[in-house]
Amino acid sequence: MKRILLIATTLILSPAYADNQIKEHAAKSKTVIKEFMGQLKGELQSSMKAGGPIKTVDVCKDKAPVIAKDLSDKYGWKVARTSLKTRNSANAPDAWETKVLHEFEKRKQNGEKVKPMAYFEMVNDNGVESFRFMKAIPTGKPCLQCHGDNISPELAAKLDASYPEDKARGFKQGDIRGAFTITQPVN
Ligand code: HEC
Repeated sequence: MKRILLIATTLILSPAYADNQIKEHAAKSKTVIKEFMGQLKGELQSSMKAGGPIKTVDVCKDKAPVIAKDLSDKYGWKVARTSLKTRNSANAPDAWETKVLHEFEKRKQNGEKVKPMAYFEMVNDNGVESFRFMKAIPTGKPCLQCHGDNISPELAAKLDASYPEDKARGFKQGDIRGAFTITQPVN
């Protein structure tokens, strides 16, 4: 009898437990993203100060993927940045990310603030269950030098040379530049 009760209770409680787990993953995702953002911002700011935007293109090019990979290794989660308009096509969104990015645009149009905007859910992709999390990245003023519509000719030439498929120009302050994206397969 006790055992039956235990099984019944477990069955009733298990969705709540899963819910808790999802919330824990979401909270952890936010701290991982903070770490990612902090490191990127540090690299970006010190390089902009020391060498200006043209030199900093190489920092974004070389450092951003390394920071993403180090964090992915550290936490065992896939951590990356993506956008509907990418500079580097290696950052292009997959189907789920594309859907979420379009949702973010809709949420912004409905008046929601970009900075805290996030979305997460469990996703089953061909039998692999993953926790997936995305957090919107707003376009700030310092981003416009390299992602706005008034890019200096020298910088534009440098970007053209490094990123012939660059779509990440013409952004305005406050636009959604893209999103951090985390994928954590679970068993
Ligand atoms: C010095 C120029 C420069 C500045 C300033 C800059 N970026 Fe970028 N950004 C780049 C480059 C170069 C890449 C491509 C990096 C790569 O190869 O992965 C990039 C890529 C990105 C990506 C990844 C998606 C994509 O387009 O490939 C996001 C998101 C992004 N930048 C957001 C920002 C935000 C937000 C700011 C302001 C806080 C900013 N950037 C400032 C040059 C810059």
